[in-house]
Parts: sequence; C-alpha cells; structure tokens
Amino acid sequence: MRKLKAAISSINAYAPDYILTNQELETMVDTSDEWITTRTGIKERHILKGNGLGTSYLGVKAVNGLLKKSGTSPDEIDLLICATVTPDMQFPATANIICDKTGIKNAFSFDLNAACSGFIYSLITASKYIESGVYKKIIVVGADKMSSIVNYTDRQTCVIFGDAGGAVLLEPTYEDVGFIDYILRSDGSGRVHLHQKAGGSVKPASHESVDEKQHFVYQEGQAVFKFAVTNMADISVEIMNRNNMKSEDIAWLVPHQANLRIIEATARRMGLEKDKVMINIQKYGNTTNGTIPLLLWEWENQLKKGDNLIVSAFGGGFTWGTIYVKWAYDS
Ligand code: ACO
Repeated sequence: MRKLKAAISSINAYAPDYILTNQELETMVDTSDEWITTRTGIKERHILKGNGLGTSYLGVKAVNGLLKKSGTSPDEIDLLICATVTPDMQFPATANIICDKTGIKNAFSFDLNAACSGFIYSLITASKYIESGVYKKIIVVGADKMSSIVNYTDRQTCVIFGDAGGAVLLEPTYEDVGFIDYILRSDGSGRVHLHQKAGGSVKPASHESVDEKQHFVYQEGQAVFKFAVTNMADISVEIMNRNNMKSEDIAWLVPHQANLRIIEATARRMGLEKDKVMINIQKYGNTTNGTIPLLLWEWENQLKKGDNLIVSAFGGGFTWGTIYVKWAYDS
C-alpha cells in the first residue's frame, strides 16, 4: 500500500527593511567588521523597527504571502504552529495572534519553543498530523524578533542575531517525495550555556532583573560552539548513513545559520562541497527560527522535484535535529 506522506508545497519568508551592518555595530560596541566576518561569516542583519511590532508581525507577513502565493484560503488551514523564542507575549501564543491577523479561523494553533531547532521540531510535529490522515493543510511558521532580547552593549551576542520570519505550507502526498526520515534530540543540561536568566516563572521580571540585564540572551559562545559543531555534524552524517546516502546523492544541505564555521564543519563531515550548501548568514545573521525557511525561500527557484535535502539545526536547550526531505515540486 502506498504510504501517505507530508510535503512542503509552498514557502514564503519576510525580513524587515532595516539593515544593521558590521560598520554600524563598530560604532556601538568594541568590535570590528574583520572580527565578525572571520569568526561568524556575518556582514549584516535585518532589524524590525517600530513601536508595537513583535514576532507576530514577521509571521503575519510571511503567512499572508504564503496564502496568496499558494492560492490557499485562510479557511482551509487546519493547524498553524509557530516556532519562536521571542513570542509577542508570554501568553497567548503568537500562533493564535498570527491566525487572528491572517483570518485563519478554522484551525487550532500553538507555539513551539525549541530555540534554533524549533522550526524543524515543528515541521516533524506537523508532518505527523498529515501522515495520520487527520489534517490536509498545515502552516509552520518560524519567526523571531531576536533584537527584542539582544543586549546591544554586549559585543559577544549583539553581532550574531537578526530578525526574520518564514512560513511553509504542508500538504499530504502519495508520491515518493516529502519528509522521509528525521532525528530529533535534546539535552537540557546544556541550558547553563545558553539561556535567558529572568522573565520566566523561576525569576519573574523585577527592577533588579532589568537593572542586571537578565532579560537578554546569555551565551557562553565557545561551549555552545563545541557542542553545536559536534552534534549537528554527527546527526547529519547519521541520517545519511541510515538512508544509504553518499554525498553525491544529496542536492543540498540546509543548515541552521548560527556560525559559518559550524556550517562548514558540518558540510566537511558530510563530504559536501560548498556549492551544495545553502548559506545566507552573511545577509541575515542568526535569525533563530527564521533561518531555515529563509534559506528554502531564497533557494526555491533552484530546487527541483525529487532533490534530496538534509535540513539540520542546533540551538539552546540544547536541542538539535536533522530531517531528510525529498523536495516535492519544481518552482
Ligand atoms: N568583537 C570583537 N571581539 C570579540 C567579540 C566581538 N563581537 N566577541 C567576543 N570577542 C572577543 C572575546 O572577548 C575574546 O577575547 P579574549 O581572547 O581577549 O578573551 C575573543 O574575542 C574570542 O572570544 P570567543 O568567545 O572565544 O570567540 P569565538 O571564536 O568562540 O566566537 C561566537 C564567538 C561567534 C559566539 C562562537 O562561539 C559561536 O558561534 N558559538 C556558537 C553559537 C551558536 O551556535 N548558538 C546556538 C544557536 S543560538 C540559539 O539557540 C538562540
């Protein structure tokens, strides 16, 4: 019997207009274009400016474009999942707000928090609702306004992050395309190296927590780097091996954009040349849940039906994962 699978049938993404360059950062903190470029690969990042605009703004832009592009009515959507670490507010879920603002009324919706791995965790969660035959049209949004939790006086973190969002439509297929295999992992002991100290139930916001800048991203870069570089490469190789894939069978590696050196190390371990690796970190920085939809959106015109994609991510938690996807359509 043919197996029901889930496949990405359309994609859209949005990055805000304002561009924060390395040169502008040089005027804000003690850093240099040379340091940022050689250590991270980043040249510029997009920042969402404007009062009252949060992550849902990025998500709404992405979803409205997706509905239009795919010719889908908001009424047809069964479920919307928003992967984010910068929700508009603690509750309700940003997914609920995106649905309200895009006219999606027949769906249930929720946020999923797995830091930079949130988008791929969400893709697999959504794919299960499709494979079970329960739902036919699901939107997965990955969006973060990282500038809302970045301390622009801390040179160790402010050079890394940017704002963006993207959205994909998932639909059922009986063809030999879509989500083929995945590996998802987490290790909460890694929380000491990458977290937000205050604002949760352990340490609610207070004058002290604000004075001590505890609502910003805290990252021990080197510790995170070591874990990321090993684990993202390990699972990317593992998924190749267990699907009997050689480097020549892979059309594209779609890696989370945290650091160019992590991306290159992963590609090397997989035996992939650079021309098979999607990289746009130089333009956007690390947009957390926005990186993977932004890549797929920018590369959509080059993707062909049946292309083998390995989509890999690593993030706070620690969380990490990889998905083997056969691309489902020619643009
Ligand atoms: N400009 C100039 N110098 C800097 C800067 C900067 N922006 N930032 C740090 N430095 C200095 C440090 O102070 C240090 O100086 P010292 O040697 O005098 O003490 C030196 O540069 C080296 O610092 P490191 O932290 O060792 O630099 P590293 O090469 O590790 O790069 C970075 C830092 C870019 C953060 C890297 O460690 C990294 O990419 N880590 C992984 C990030 C990641 O994958 N995060 C997961 C996803 S994020 C999420 O889930 C939300």
